Amino acid sequence: MVKASHVLDRVLVLEMVRVTEAAAVAASHLIGRGDEKAADAAAVAAMRAALNTLEIDGTVVIGEGERDEAPMLYIGEKVGAAQDGGPRIDIALDPLEGTTITAKAGANAMAVLAVAEHGCLLNAPDVYMEKLAVGPGYPDGIIDLAKSATENVRAVAAAKGVAPSEIITCVLDRPRHEKLIAELRALGCGIQLIPDGDVAGVIAVTDPDTSIDLYMGSGGAPEGVLAAAALRCVGGQFQGKLLFRNDDERARAARWGVEDLNRIYRLEDLAKGDAIFAATGVTNGSLLDGVQRRKDKITTESVVMRASTGTVRWVRGEHRPDHEPGGH
Ligand code: FBP
Repeated sequence: MVKASHVLDRVLVLEMVRVTEAAAVAASHLIGRGDEKAADAAAVAAMRAALNTLEIDGTVVIGEGERDEAPMLYIGEKVGAAQDGGPRIDIALDPLEGTTITAKAGANAMAVLAVAEHGCLLNAPDVYMEKLAVGPGYPDGIIDLAKSATENVRAVAAAKGVAPSEIITCVLDRPRHEKLIAELRALGCGIQLIPDGDVAGVIAVTDPDTSIDLYMGSGGAPEGVLAAAALRCVGGQFQGKLLFRNDDERARAARWGVEDLNRIYRLEDLAKGDAIFAATGVTNGSLLDGVQRRKDKITTESVVMRASTGTVRWVRGEHRPDHEPGGH
């Protein structure tokens, strides 16, 4: 059992939802409008404004990029209204996880945030991460990134008491996953190919309603830290390994203090101690319903969870159009 943190006690859990709601509602104006950048910019501005109303001394540790490439919510940016003496909180955020999804009105776009005490979230460089996740209820160490996809599927199938062909794996639909997909097909596994949005993809392994047993493949490392924070709260196992395509990415990792480039990170290496994870749906998805805009009200669905207690709260918001979260 993880000890509840006093620092996080002072951050109202529900305040986190107000932050993700603001970003999701701001992005919802751009759903299906074919403009990824505008959707992201709207979410970023709204999330930043909402974070700056909180009584915290916050630092963005996973954000929109390094300072020279992101004008707002860059890594290292200080946020919160209590920079002098407020609780020191590290923040991992993705104001719009699924920019392309939003632009195309696809499924599973969300506004996402994780907070933890200072020093508890991995400061991951913005490179790819090889990811492997399984839901709760399996023996510790059932999955192992050092082993092949076949070995991992067989281990999970054996523990579940089914044939490997009964295992369903979620994978990002990318040419780089051709070999992985062929390996899974050879086992007869079901594969749910998703166009984008691997935070929701990883979390889907924890929800029996999705029927997804495993998540496999590479995606963004920042998204890996966010997904890990969620799994710390709801259970399940996750392993991640940073992938470097060139020397620039290796140098980036060195700047963030990564010493062992081949390290396999486990849940606690990515998000340790107490942590809060919050997300609000932008478009409908496996985890959350998206923002619905009606003439007389805007509805949102959010989830907020905490590692120390394992409490998961589902929050349905109804907002007046003349009083949008985030102040539109
Ligand atoms: P964006 O919201 O930045 O578009 O990210 C969407 C996403 O699908 C993530 O969920 C995933 O981790 C990453 O992109 C995968 O990267 P790539 O599109 O380069 O394969």
